[in-house]
Amino acid sequence: MSTITAAITAVGGYVPDFVLTNELLETMVDTNDEWITSRTGIKERRILKGENLGTSYLAIKAAEDLIAKKNINPEEIDLVIVSTTTPDMPVAATAVYVATQIGAVNAFAYDLQAACSGFLYGMSTASAFIQSGKYKKVLLIGADKMSSIIDYTDRATCIIFGDGAGAVLFEPNYEGLGVQDEYLRSDGIGREFLKIEAGGSILPPSAETVAKRQHYVFQDGKTVYKYAVSGMADVSEKILERNNLTHHDVNWLIAHQANKRIIDATASRIGLEEEKVLINIHKYGNTTSGTLPLLLFDFEKKFKKGDNLIFAAFGGGFTWGSIYLKWAY
Ligand code: COA
Repeated sequence: MSTITAAITAVGGYVPDFVLTNELLETMVDTNDEWITSRTGIKERRILKGENLGTSYLAIKAAEDLIAKKNINPEEIDLVIVSTTTPDMPVAATAVYVATQIGAVNAFAYDLQAACSGFLYGMSTASAFIQSGKYKKVLLIGADKMSSIIDYTDRATCIIFGDGAGAVLFEPNYEGLGVQDEYLRSDGIGREFLKIEAGGSILPPSAETVAKRQHYVFQDGKTVYKYAVSGMADVSEKILERNNLTHHDVNWLIAHQANKRIIDATASRIGLEEEKVLINIHKYGNTTSGTLPLLLFDFEKKFKKGDNLIFAAFGGGFTWGSIYLKWAY
């Protein structure tokens, strides 16, 4: 019997229509296009507008795009995982609602939270379910409505984040394609530097926490930047080394889109040519769980069967890691 590997067999994506440009941000906080572009590479981001629309709205759209393109019967999906930092509600997993709405009525479903590494960790989880041989179709969605937790009076964070979602389907592969290796890391030191202080079990919501604006993302950008640059580069280098790959063997770098300078530092550490580094941060900003699948969504047509993709991410917690995957179609 041949070994089962877990391959990505379909991709979907969705970003909302409203475009929040750097120019528009200039009218909201004390910032400017030149500062944002040179520090982050971001030109604009998408924002989900509309009453009562949460992360599930983005996730459902991305999943429906995948289902329509691949023409799959949603009743055949075994498991739906939604990686998100902005669930619809603190209790009642977003994934469960999403699964029901897309017609995945035979699936079980749950959320996975690991900040900006959520989708990468989700790839590890989804592929393990496939490799076990027990499940044939696992839908992994990375979705975040970051605008729901961003303080639009704080110029240090509001210029960075945007809303969006991407989805991938994992299925068994018998040709050795799909996930080849993973190297995942975490370090609890990170929660001082990137967090939402209130609303959890340590500091439940109160009039005081609202008044102190503690339900918004706080980030010590400089410290996070320092850890992110070394973290993402280290794991990417490590995964190449232990799979005996050089930059010549890598076809595409799929890196978390938090800051163009962090991505460039990772590419530079592994000696990767610029044209192999996929970038869409200028269009969407940091969509947290959405960045990696939105890269797949935007650049799907470039990939060829057998291509070597290196995924890398760094996020709050801290969480970070790298996955080596061979493209399957
Ligand atoms: N517009 C204009 N000026 C701004 C600004 C903005 N939007 N935000 C901050 N500044 C100012 C600061 O107040 C500071 O001014 P000062 O020197 O007078 O005090 C100056 O610009 C430099 O700020 P600093 O925070 O040191 O900038 P930076 O070069 O570190 O860039 C980030 C800020 C957020 C872009 C950068 O730190 C970063 O990308 N961090 C990592 C983010 C990340 O990856 N987060 C997610 C992980 S998943």
